[in-house]
Amino acid sequence: MGLFDNILKDDESLFLNPEHLDYDYQPKLIPFREQEQQYMATCIKPLLQNRNGKNLLIYGPPGIGKTVSSKQVIKELEGYEDKITPIYINCWKKSTSHKIAVEVCSQLNYKWTHNKNTEELLKQIAEILNKKTALLILDEADKIEDFSFMYSFLEDIYKKSLFLITNNIDFLTKLDSRMLSRLSLSELEFKPYNLNQTKDILKTRKDYAFVKNVFEEEAFNTLVEKTYNLRDIRTGLYLLKEAGNIAETKASRKIILEHAQQAINNLKEYKIKNSSTLKEEEKLILNTVKENSGKTLKEIYNILTKNNEIPYRTFTRKVKFLNNNNMISSEEIMTETGGKSFKLHYGSIKKLGEY
Ligand SMILES: Nc1ncnc2c1ncn2[C@@H]1O[C@H](COP(=O)(O)OP(=O)(O)OP(=O)(O)O)[C@@H](O)[C@H]1O
Ligand SMILES: [Mg+2]
Repeated sequence: MGLFDNILKDDESLFLNPEHLDYDYQPKLIPFREQEQQYMATCIKPLLQNRNGKNLLIYGPPGIGKTVSSKQVIKELEGYEDKITPIYINCWKKSTSHKIAVEVCSQLNYKWTHNKNTEELLKQIAEILNKKTALLILDEADKIEDFSFMYSFLEDIYKKSLFLITNNIDFLTKLDSRMLSRLSLSELEFKPYNLNQTKDILKTRKDYAFVKNVFEEEAFNTLVEKTYNLRDIRTGLYLLKEAGNIAETKASRKIILEHAQQAINNLKEYKIKNSSTLKEEEKLILNTVKENSGKTLKEIYNILTKNNEIPYRTFTRKVKFLNNNNMISSEEIMTETGGKSFKLHYGSIKKLGEY
C-alpha cells in the first residue's frame, strides 16, 4: 500500500447524492408511518366523494415525520385534481392571516393580490376553493399569530378538511370554545421511532447519500444510537452529513468512529444555531437562561421581568417550548419548603450528557 492511498484526492468526495440528507428532501417512501398516512387518508376520503371531510390535529415531538408524512399524502392526491385542491402552508414562514392568504393565492395561481386586503383575498380564495373540495394543511400551527384565516376557511368553504400540525398543542388554548367545537378535531399522535426503525430510516438515507462502503459500521451505529436517544431523525441526518464533512476535511477515504464522535460533539452548536428562527420573546428568554444557566425558573423569571413585561404563564409556556426543542434543559429540584421547582440550563448539555 502506498503512503498516500488513504488520502482523499481534491476532486474526490465521500458524498454521492448529498441532497438525500437535506431536511426537506421528500423520500419516495416513508416507512413506519403507513398507519398515520392511512388515517390522514381516511379524513380526506369524503372529499373525493364530494362530501365534507374531517379536521385533524397531528401532534408529536420534533423530527419524527409529521411534515414528511403529510406531504406524502398530498403527493398521493396527484390524479385527483378535478375533485380536490390541496394546500400546504408552513406557518413558521407565513404566520399572519394576510401572509397565509397571499401564499394560498399563489398556490392557486391567483395573481391579482396587489392592493387587496386580507378580507378581499379571503373572498377570492373561497370562490376558487368552493368549485371543488379543499384540503388545507397548516404545519407548525402553533406559530400562527392570528386565526382569522382559519376562521374564514372553516366558515366559508363548504367541503373541506383542515389539518393542524404541531409539536406544541398549547396553542389551542388561544382558540375560543365556539371555534374549537366547530373544528371538532380528530387527533393523530406521532410517537418516536424505536431503535430498529431509526436505524432503517437512517440506513436508507445514508446508502443514497454516500459512496458505497465509505461509512464504517461502527461509526454509523454510534450515530444511530445517538439519534435514537434524541428521538429525532432530523438530528440524525445532521449527524450523518457532519460526520461526512469532518472525514472530508481530514481527507479521509472512510468515515470512522472518531468522525462520528466529533459530529456528536458539534451537535450542541447546531442546536443553538437553530435559534435564529425564534421569536423575539423566545430569544429573550433563551438569552436570559444562557446568562444565568443553572438558576431556578423563578429566579430567571425575576431577572427577565426587571426590564420586560412578560406574563408568568407566557413565560412558562415558552420555557416549555425551548425545552421541548432541546435549546434549554430543566432539572427538577426540591425547594426548602418541600415543594418542587426547576433549574434551567442553557443548551441540551444536560440531556446530551445523560446518554
Ligand atoms: N419514516 C421516515 N422515512 C424517511 N425519512 C424520515 C422519516 N421520518 C422522518 N424522516 C426525515 O426526518 C426529518 C424530520 O422529519 P419531519 O420534517 O417530518 O419532522 P416533523 O415531525 O415534522 O418535525 P417538526 O415537529 O420539528 O416539524 C425529515 O428530513 C424527514 O425526511
Ligand atoms: Mg414538521
